[in-house]
Amino acid sequence: VNAQADLTGLTGKRVLVSAGGTRERLDPVRYLTNDSSGKMGAAVANVAAAAGAEVTLVTTKAVPVLPNVQVVSVESAQELAQAMLAQPADIVVMAAAVADFRPVTTATNKIKKTADNDEFHLDLVKNPDILSALGHQKRPGQKVIGFAAETTDLIHNASVKLAEKGADMIVANQVGVPDSGFNVDVNQVTLLRPEQPPLPLPKNDKLTIAKQILEIILQDN
Ligand code: CTP
Ligand code: CA
Repeated sequence: VNAQADLTGLTGKRVLVSAGGTRERLDPVRYLTNDSSGKMGAAVANVAAAAGAEVTLVTTKAVPVLPNVQVVSVESAQELAQAMLAQPADIVVMAAAVADFRPVTTATNKIKKTADNDEFHLDLVKNPDILSALGHQKRPGQKVIGFAAETTDLIHNASVKLAEKGADMIVANQVGVPDSGFNVDVNQVTLLRPEQPPLPLPKNDKLTIAKQILEIILQDN
């Protein structure tokens, strides 16, 4: 991978990126979420836009983007799914950290703690797998890229996701360690693609990683 990435192939391409952790509401003032900051997705969107792509960023977080990035704000996994599946694209990058489960019901009013009960049980239901849906309904020539956040067995677990989700690339990301993954400016990833050996990238800032991801996906034709 060159330090000076060749992104000329992005000119005029429609690039659709998701970013941030989804928020799954319990009631009007409370939600379940995760540590994703939206920085990695924003980096991909900005790099693609700077290279001349037509970029849409579907995000749960307000992140700084170039003026030519079209931003769609969403909150929950269901809203994210709707936005991602409605938008035509040549390259789709699922950098959002989608909550795997959401509360079965969202209370209309603030949930009260009752005096007679010291426990509160929350029922959750699985969210749709957006990457898997995108990967299994790909048009010819379309590229679908996902991330895998793992604390253990990084390459094995990420390879399973590559195959099961029908993705063209999984960006495997060690989380739960300093200087990589959620809510930091640097990242250490390994790129996994079908029929190719894993490609570990040196630790770098998220903009550089974004360039490398896009350069590699453009090379795979
Ligand atoms: N993803 C998605 N929809 C979901 C869950 C995950 O689109 N409901 C996407 C993420 O955006 C990411 C990829 O799938 O690109 C992998 O997410 P990850 O959380 O690492 O994997 P999961 O398949 O959810 O499996 P697990 O959390 O159990 O490891
Ligand atoms: Ca998950």
